[in-house]
Amino acid sequence: MEMIHLDPPAELAMPLGEAMFTQRAIRRLDPDRPIDDAALKLILDAASKAPNGANLQATRFLVIRDRGRIRAFGALYHEAWWAKRADAYGWEPDQELPADSPYRMAAQLANEMVDAPAVVLAFSPGPPALTAGSVFPAVQNLMLAARAIGIGSVLTSLHPVVMDRLHEMFEVPTEFGFHACVPLGYPRGRFGRTRRRPSAGTTFIDRWGTPPRWASTDGGS
Ligand SMILES: Cc1cc2nc3c(=O)[nH]c(=O)nc-3n(C[C@H](O)[C@H](O)[C@H](O)COP(=O)(O)O)c2cc1C
Repeated sequence: MEMIHLDPPAELAMPLGEAMFTQRAIRRLDPDRPIDDAALKLILDAASKAPNGANLQATRFLVIRDRGRIRAFGALYHEAWWAKRADAYGWEPDQELPADSPYRMAAQLANEMVDAPAVVLAFSPGPPALTAGSVFPAVQNLMLAARAIGIGSVLTSLHPVVMDRLHEMFEVPTEFGFHACVPLGYPRGRFGRTRRRPSAGTTFIDRWGTPPRWASTDGGS
């Protein structure tokens, strides 16, 4: 196997903490600003550095850049997004969502995926439940590297109803299972701080139920 040694790329100079703490889901992407080869390579290089089971490095990324192909994929994505909502809530495709629905932005992305500058699809061979653990560290590396160079992304999924067509559309071998779809683009708008539960509310020490000592002081971020 060819081993590739990389020095840390100078372009990834953003402090790790800044990248992690401002990695919002960016769904509003500038359709007119393409992702160039250098940026894409950097992002995929970062993905390739992730931990993975037995260092088998079985994850494969398919990057869709051709406008016609993105448009075709966008139609599948739209169908898959509404199929998930039909399963979960019985919603009809393209139905109007209430103004305060947490899904409004995701629904907008389902409409706008057709205009994403680039879309990364992550696959791995073997049963998805066994191999996902090796795919998602790479996906997170990819998204953090994108953030560090000012490119927005959001981790999304698809629905079984589109899987055969996805494989056909991009000639993906059937043994490769799909794990994640990550549109990439420069944000329309800004990155911002994430809002999450404080770690004191999600962490126990030594036994289930015992909060960490910092629970009394941590207001979260
Ligand atoms: C496993 C997974 C699946 C997700 N699927 C979708 C999706 O299908 N569509 C979407 O718009 N966002 C999706 N997201 C993004 C989450 O909604 C987002 O990370 C979360 O709401 C936090 O948003 P924030 O980063 O803006 O705070 C997914 C995230 C994860 C980790």
